[in-house]
Amino acid sequence: MAKLRSAWFCTSCGNESSKWMGQCPACGEWNTMVEEPKESSSVKSFSRNRAYIASEQSKPELLDNISLDAENRFSIGICEVDRILGGGIVAGSMILIGGEPGIGKSTLSLQIPLLCPQLKTLYVSGEESGKQIKLRAQRLGGDSSNCLIYSETLLENILHQANEVQPHLLIIDSIQTIYSEKFESSAGSVSQVKECAAALLRFAKEKNISVILIGHITKDGSIAGPKILEHIVDVVLQFEGDSRGSYRLLRSIKNRFGSTAELAVFEMTGSGLKEIANPSDILIPLHQGDLSGIAIAAMLDGTRPFLIEIQSLVSSAAYGMPQRNATGFDVRKLNMLLAVLEKRSGFKLSAKDVFLNIAGGIKISDPACDLAVVVAVLSSNFDLSIPLDSCFAAEIGLSGEIRPVSQVERRIAEAEKLGFKRIYISSFNKKGSFAKKAIDVIPVADIPSLCKLLFKG
Ligand code: TYD
Ligand code: MG
Repeated sequence: MAKLRSAWFCTSCGNESSKWMGQCPACGEWNTMVEEPKESSSVKSFSRNRAYIASEQSKPELLDNISLDAENRFSIGICEVDRILGGGIVAGSMILIGGEPGIGKSTLSLQIPLLCPQLKTLYVSGEESGKQIKLRAQRLGGDSSNCLIYSETLLENILHQANEVQPHLLIIDSIQTIYSEKFESSAGSVSQVKECAAALLRFAKEKNISVILIGHITKDGSIAGPKILEHIVDVVLQFEGDSRGSYRLLRSIKNRFGSTAELAVFEMTGSGLKEIANPSDILIPLHQGDLSGIAIAAMLDGTRPFLIEIQSLVSSAAYGMPQRNATGFDVRKLNMLLAVLEKRSGFKLSAKDVFLNIAGGIKISDPACDLAVVVAVLSSNFDLSIPLDSCFAAEIGLSGEIRPVSQVERRIAEAEKLGFKRIYISSFNKKGSFAKKAIDVIPVADIPSLCKLLFKG
């Protein structure tokens, strides 16, 4: 009997090796090599040797002669998704939607055909039965007259049916459940994911059908077989957010047809995902009266300005070791900001517990939120409130200086639009150019002078 050939594959980047290794030599990840049967040599890999060509007959063409109407975009009925895609889906393109289980990938992709009945859609589910999808569609509402459901996991059957149906849009939920009989490894393995995605891509380009792939995320937060899929597909969208909370962020990580710095915010409701056109509305407080420990940051995510509430609680440490806890913010960064406050500005916080929370279950990494974090901590420490018509946009340096941030004009414009009266920025951000604004732009140089302004002492 012929010996079954197997090889070791890296689950992160798909690199193949003849023996096990602790660290993948291609991507440097540790402990990612898994053993998988190798395809028999008679089977020709979909991806190897054959690049992703538009059609078998394609010939070299002069750049000048290529007509632009080939890039045929269509809207999918959800404005925010259209916007992050750069104005709709390009015909024949392939989109990967990644996210943790339960975040709403299947919901979003089923909402597309229901909201856009003019698109003929084939929704292939390897995870749910037709009945389950029907129940979900009833919750979502909309027009299901042009949406075909197909519960199947065998790639060859899917391609055959898609060829018969000739849809505008083919949705695969999820790529990890699809397998091809040409390969011996099980569904979800590196070689199956890679080859099935490559076969679907060739099909998409040949037939000019757009494909949406849904991909699960591995424990470390990357899409399973991430690098393998990310370089194959045209667009990568990632769902983020706390699946227990109701807000979800959809971020474009890669986009061959538009900008990658785009973000859309959705709310998960009883009848599916609802887009939130103006996220600042939900992220800033509706408190009656002023509370201490709250400051508003004018942050920027990608190209989109947001105003977001930062909450802090500072109290005397009940136990010997003070606690530092942050939700939605890097706790090391919080420790650094507290050290700056202690060393450079003389605030004694080393014996205090400090808790920080970002509203709406959102994670922030924009350095322009530093100033609002510091102000929220000091406000809670002194138990003095900050007027809620003030917001902040500046970075804090290690020597305690208030540093300028990028695109300050856009942050100011967003704060002005939302009716804020004052915005505190770094005095190094081009002085004097914000004179004719309805909002007061207050430049500050260091934390003690800011405290004098805010807490009058
Ligand atoms: P789902 O879209 O199946 O997530 P994924 O495909 O990413 O694993 O489900 C998302 C969650 O949202 C699920 O826990 C149920 C909930 N949900 C709602 O709250 N409202 C709805 O209308 C739907 C369809 C789901
Ligand atoms: Mg799902």
